[in-house]
Amino acid sequence: MSVQDENKLTKIKNSLESRVVTLPDGTSLPRIGQGTWYMGENPQMREREIKALQLGIDLGMKLIDTAEMYGDGDSERLVGEAIKGRRDDVFLVSKVYPHHAGLDMIAKACENSLKRLGTDHLDLYLLHWRGRVPLAETIEGMEKLRKEGKIVRWGVSNFDTDDMKELWNTTNGKNCMTNQVLYHLGSRGIDYDLLPWQREHHMPIMAYSPLAQGGSLRRQLLTDPTIKEIAEKYAVQPLQIALAWTIRSNDCLAIPKAVQEEHVLANAKATIIELTKEDLNRLDEVFPQPTRKMPLDII
Ligand SMILES: NC(=O)c1ccc[n+]([C@@H]2O[C@H](COP(=O)([O-])OP(=O)(O)OC[C@H]3O[C@@H](n4cnc5c(N)ncnc54)[C@H](OP(=O)(O)O)[C@@H]3O)[C@@H](O)[C@H]2O)c1
Repeated sequence: MSVQDENKLTKIKNSLESRVVTLPDGTSLPRIGQGTWYMGENPQMREREIKALQLGIDLGMKLIDTAEMYGDGDSERLVGEAIKGRRDDVFLVSKVYPHHAGLDMIAKACENSLKRLGTDHLDLYLLHWRGRVPLAETIEGMEKLRKEGKIVRWGVSNFDTDDMKELWNTTNGKNCMTNQVLYHLGSRGIDYDLLPWQREHHMPIMAYSPLAQGGSLRRQLLTDPTIKEIAEKYAVQPLQIALAWTIRSNDCLAIPKAVQEEHVLANAKATIIELTKEDLNRLDEVFPQPTRKMPLDII
């Protein structure tokens, strides 16, 4: 590797270390982590996916997000293989199905996730979305797992503002560490009330699909002239600007999924981009902030 390349890598690592979000328990995490949806499902892609996750960890994107749902456990198995021998370098997140979130089922679901991941604890366990199990029961199950050391902390996913308020008013609900929701430049409904509510309660958002699934959920992120101009100014790609936008403040962490090596590098590099007030204003003009309550975007 040339000295120039080494300098570039050091710069990426430094920015991932310094641009962090802080969870309510004081844990600091780099603002970009790694998603794993659809990984582990195609044996021909396996080696490449493992290498991508390992490269991401090497660069400092230590948070890895998976779920029992992804490929019926195949994603967790793949992550387990990728982090073998380096569990302590990783902040491991998995999610429980809502229909497994009752007091008895959650212990079994967690145990199965731990087995597939080849570890004895999760750093964060999320309720994937809200189902029929009462919140109080899920919280009790989460707290029990926490006391047993099977999980270090817990959170939720796909919760809208009213769900968060209800959670907050449930016994031990304030122990929730984050809410993982869809958030990208082309889908910013949460800017209206959920993000402000979480800010007020010092709980960061974990943004999923921060690249709008490579732009397929919102083509404009790839083609819009303003985003292209800003990308040219920083000598990066439009989706790196979209990612830099998602992590523009210290209360949002994004978890892009990338299998291609150049995508992993590009995503890590996005932490270096600190958008100016002027950039943000220009992006607001094309992708305006919501002026009324929007239903939570979910995929
Ligand atoms: N809680 C929930 O309900 C929920 C829902 C959806 C997702 N998630 C989590 O969030 C993660 C991320 O969301 P996502 O997978 O839906 O979509 P995403 O991260 O927005 O986009 C992933 C797609 O973008 C491509 N890509 C990655 N980096 C790129 C770059 N720098 N330039 C151009 N293309 C790039 C990837 O291609 P390659 O893979 O070919 O590199 C892949 O096709 C998931 O993997 C999952 O862990 C959670």
